[in-house]
Amino acid sequence: MKIEEHVPLSRLTTFKVGGPARYVITCTSQTDLLEGIQFATDHDLPLIVLGGGSNVLPSDEPYEGVVLVMNMQGITEEELGGNSVAVSVSAGVPWDEFVTYATGKGMWGVENLAGIPGSTGATPVQNIGAYGMDVSQTITSVTVYDASSKTVYSLSPAECEFGYRQSRFKKEPTLIITSVTFKLSREGTPHTGYPDLQTAKAEGVTLETPSDIADAVRAIRGRKFPDLNTFGTAGSFFKNPILSQEQFAGLSREYGAIPSFPHPDGVKVPLAFILDKVLALKGYKKNHTFLFGNQPLVVVAEPGATSKEIESLAQEIEKKVFDTTHIVIEREVTNIFSHEIKKI
Ligand code: EPU
Repeated sequence: MKIEEHVPLSRLTTFKVGGPARYVITCTSQTDLLEGIQFATDHDLPLIVLGGGSNVLPSDEPYEGVVLVMNMQGITEEELGGNSVAVSVSAGVPWDEFVTYATGKGMWGVENLAGIPGSTGATPVQNIGAYGMDVSQTITSVTVYDASSKTVYSLSPAECEFGYRQSRFKKEPTLIITSVTFKLSREGTPHTGYPDLQTAKAEGVTLETPSDIADAVRAIRGRKFPDLNTFGTAGSFFKNPILSQEQFAGLSREYGAIPSFPHPDGVKVPLAFILDKVLALKGYKKNHTFLFGNQPLVVVAEPGATSKEIESLAQEIEKKVFDTTHIVIEREVTNIFSHEIKKI
């Protein structure tokens, strides 16, 4: 277990912002995790569990608490018969490293999710999704350390309460994910229906194997997201809104054809389209933050940006969208304090 003091959260989040945390403990085993929690209890401090820090907005203020960084490594496989394999991945394995591992072995199931930053243990939290796939489609169980009952157990997908960028882990920070098990298959068919993949296909890109698709997705993402070496970002900052049929019809009357996807609760509309075509906010800049020119759903933080500036841009966008369309948008990126375990 590694304990460091006064570590800037800007080093632990992909937004590259955030004030210093009093203690940062890197956990490479379950023992480390238990000791880290005990450390917080002994010092009477609150606790925040972080993976790759790719979907959180920290505060600029110093954090008088303990941040546990989940860094457990390891991937194990179990044959399930037929062509199926159960692959269990420790929470700290970088997600794209696992995608490279799986696709490199010709396994189907996570190829469309290539190139997403963050750790594997964080993927069920917001049920990551891209290019027509959600991670919940291949997850068969999530193992947690429940900090309130001090027990380890596994949750079925139904118990995880997955939804669009949603799960019970967002609401219950005491459930600390230690590993995730996926059911992958050695036989599969490409899921290339998503418009960007159709375009790639039309341009002659081969999309036959899981690795082909993962490579194509990484190339598409390379164009849609800023370079993480220079800029801070957490990918899509907002969720795509789900509108009632009525709301959607009203909006279409006013603004013409709007792309949409069926959703059990109504119609899902790309917010990027509204920000771009309705509000002309592509590239909109405020202080050191802006909406990315190639994908306005992506909030970008320039070097020197603060969390307050990101918050201010986000609030302004929320207001502009509401004032013009009456849509209340929700954030995909979470405030770091929503992950806080106040006392154990
Ligand atoms: N669009 C525009 N202008 C633009 C960009 C997009 O009008 O500049 C419109 C187009 O009609 C386009 C549509 O928006 O077809 C959708 O854009 P895109 O395919 O880029 O996807 P998205 O809906 O904006 C979602 C996810 C992304 C994921 C992509 C690809 C959410 C909140 N975001 O974005 O996930 O990579 O689909 O599947 O659901 C993330 O969650 O952090 C994330 C990046």
